[in-house]
Amino acid sequence: MVVPATGLPARVRIYEVGARDGLQNEKRTVPAEIKAEFIRRLAAAGLTTIEATSFVHPKWVPQLADAEQLFPMVVDLPGVALPVLVPNQRGLDRALALGADRIAVFASATESFAKANLNRTLDESLAVFEPVVRQAKDRDVHVRGYVSMCFGDPWEGPVPLHQVARVCKALRDMGCDELSLGDTIGVATPGHVLELLNLLNEEGVPTNMLGVHFHDTYGQALANTYAALEHGVTTVDSSAGGLGGCPYAKSATGNLATEDLVWMLHGLGIQTGVDLGRLTATSVWMAAHLDRPSPSRTVRALSHKDQ
Ligand code: HMG
Ligand code: MG
Repeated sequence: MVVPATGLPARVRIYEVGARDGLQNEKRTVPAEIKAEFIRRLAAAGLTTIEATSFVHPKWVPQLADAEQLFPMVVDLPGVALPVLVPNQRGLDRALALGADRIAVFASATESFAKANLNRTLDESLAVFEPVVRQAKDRDVHVRGYVSMCFGDPWEGPVPLHQVARVCKALRDMGCDELSLGDTIGVATPGHVLELLNLLNEEGVPTNMLGVHFHDTYGQALANTYAALEHGVTTVDSSAGGLGGCPYAKSATGNLATEDLVWMLHGLGIQTGVDLGRLTATSVWMAAHLDRPSPSRTVRALSHKDQ
């Protein structure tokens, strides 16, 4: 049943991260052909932004070591934006060589995670990104800047908001087209989300360049998303079936499940362009390849209904 609420956007862009954030942390490494089929099925279910893979060091993320094989299999999918993660110059060169026209650099709000994830201090990692973003923009490549650990960090605890704002502003000033605020370990609660969004606005980072990226470790991802929507955010990251986590933040669990997000958005009358039935079938299909059931409540509820 559709019951709209006031003060929410009419449409939300879902930024699907299952093929990247999801699969990078699954125990079972999925063959490139299955990944490509996953991405095709996600597109057929109506998702129009699908993060495809990462051009990172294969030893750091072995699950995505097949980026060179996978990306050409999907690059020509019509009507779908396929951003890829790029950690440095080498990653940019690899992505551009295959015709990527959207990249994402990924920074951290904390020193500990910058070190664990990128083997650099926070400022060193920003210095690595600066020429990467510049070259990308010179070639008209769209750039997303992730900021991880915006709300809490497994080594440092709560993260001061001004630290997050500093990294967001640095990425904006480099030329990133959009930013994604990562709750990598899923500790945020709605008031905290609103406090960060308000501070960023006060510091000159407009809501229309912000997306939210919630992991669902403490079951707060949907509540946090609702708070962000009320604030005016219209880009929400999620992963089909709730796949994933982060290999360099052990306490991170999967992202907000796309099906759970779509269930809420459609119930509110917010358009997404997603066919929930086809998406759920895709997650059930992928769960069989991973040999584990989807953690998404919506996938479980809808797939049991058919049996
Ligand atoms: P490093 O060991 O410091 O690398 O790792 P380096 O620059 O010293 O280079 C060492 C060797 O690696 C060299 O080779 C380089 O060429 C090679 P050698 O000369 O010794 O033969 N190399 C590469 N090879 C392939 N592709 C590359 C590349 N770069 C260097 N791009 C590095 C630094 C950044 C490479 C490494 O730390 C890395 O790959 N990290 C990636 C970690 C990662 O992917 N984490 C998950 C994504 S982030 C995330 O999930 C959070 C997010 O979802 C948001 C949220 O939830 O908060 C986005
Ligand atoms: Mg993530």
